[in-house]
Amino acid sequence: MKNIVILISGRGSNMQAIVNADIPNAKIAAVIANVPNAAGLAWAKEKGIATAVLNHKEFKNRAEFDMNLAMLIDGYKPDLVVLAGFMRILSPQFCQHYQGRLMNIHPSLLPSFKGLHTHEEAIKSGCKLAGCTVHFVTPELDSGAIISQAAVPVLNDDTADTLAARVLQCEHKIYPQAVADFVSGSLKLVDHHAVNVSRSDKNAFLLGQG
Ligand code: GRF
Repeated sequence: MKNIVILISGRGSNMQAIVNADIPNAKIAAVIANVPNAAGLAWAKEKGIATAVLNHKEFKNRAEFDMNLAMLIDGYKPDLVVLAGFMRILSPQFCQHYQGRLMNIHPSLLPSFKGLHTHEEAIKSGCKLAGCTVHFVTPELDSGAIISQAAVPVLNDDTADTLAARVLQCEHKIYPQAVADFVSGSLKLVDHHAVNVSRSDKNAFLLGQG
């Protein structure tokens, strides 16, 4: 059984998708939020999952918050730490501590559109495809090895909100799958690239497929 700790800051729809996927040999050991009233916490509690809050505002700097966060996480003996809408930049020390066992989902087709406002940027740039990326986390923002991606069309009348909603549907598919692949041991890091040894398609998904 692999222990998974999920970090959230808000509604936690990706966390819910991962919990609801009922991944074999995976135990959701805890859901931790840095925002005391993060909506996802109540949902997790109701599901009987251990929850905790560590409010970053109560720490004097990033290093101190990250150190305490790592101590809290490590109390659950995680095999994998999953960032699911966790809206904090993590220090290099934190990222290194969880190297190879810290995942994030980003709402763009990386390496395009790192950081915030990804959907606005995709529309502004005239992209015809947008999407989401699951990746391992490294100290450089949104730059770790790509685990899986899903693409959706950008429609002529899309707003950032309509595009975000279309991409979110994909997030809810590929994130639980990536966690399941990690748990089953089929994800390997080869020359800094994440390779899924049980799939030949490099973990790419297009809307309307599979
Ligand atoms: C998602 O769009 C995710 O890609 C981004 O933050 C959002 C979190 O949404 N990192 P939710 O809290 O999982 O609903």
